[in-house]
Amino acid sequence: MHELDHYIYPHRVLHWLVAGAVLVSLATGLTLGTLGFERTAEMVGSATTNVMYTTHKTMGVLILLLMTLRILTRLAFVVPDHDPPLNLFERILSTSVHHLLYLALVLMPLLGWAATATGGYPVEFFVWHLPGLVGRHPELSSTLFAWHGFLGWAIVVLLVLHLLGALYHWRIKRDGVMTRMSLFD
Ligand code: HEM
Ligand code: HEM
Repeated sequence: MHELDHYIYPHRVLHWLVAGAVLVSLATGLTLGTLGFERTAEMVGSATTNVMYTTHKTMGVLILLLMTLRILTRLAFVVPDHDPPLNLFERILSTSVHHLLYLALVLMPLLGWAATATGGYPVEFFVWHLPGLVGRHPELSSTLFAWHGFLGWAIVVLLVLHLLGALYHWRIKRDGVMTRMSLFD
């Protein structure tokens, strides 16, 4: 198939790396956010709970890095035309969901970072501790964590719409949309 039927290869790799990291962030974030440290530690032990926090923060910071690269590859290279073309409704809906996902996936790590640092907790990235960049401020931290939680649910809704869109193109319309992001064909 002609290369312009696809996003350029690095952009496709970034899509799937971000997809994996988002799923891990949501799974660990929602578990820790719903149960909190104590109840999670009662269920899986405090060592595993700490690993979950570190994993969550590491994936979040990684998403920020990958999204920065992804915005560059999206702006620098041609986006393939849809063949057959999308109708107006499909175009507006898919573009809105994609743009909101971009926005949410840049804001979310920044909020998580700021909430963590203002709460006086370490901003962990694999084995390193990154600079907090903002001073300790527990009240601000609770507000930022509340927004982090709301935005988490907004991402879940956007992802469900995105997955329904992907399924619709793959199983019902059976057009080439899935191929545009595929690593293998
Ligand atoms: C199993 C999960 C997923 C499937 C099957 C899937 C499938 C696709 C497909 C087929 C496209 C191409 C759409 C087009 O050409 O118009 C696409 C684009 C896109 N996907 Fe996904 N996706 C998945 C997960 C995710 C996740 C987790 C995210 C981010 C949170 C995401 C964000 C995007 C964005 C922003 C685009 C727009 C194209 C771009 O600029 O990268 N996707 N996806
Ligand atoms: C796109 C990236 C991210 C996603 C999708 C995400 C998602 C979430 C979600 C859904 C929650 C649960 C909120 C709640 O129910 O109250 C959460 C909690 C949390 N997130 Fe994130 N997050 C991301 C990035 C980050 C980053 C970069 C950090 C810090 C460096 C971070 C630190 C935290 C912490 C400390 C919690 C609180 C857990 C608790 O209440 O005990 N997150 N995150």
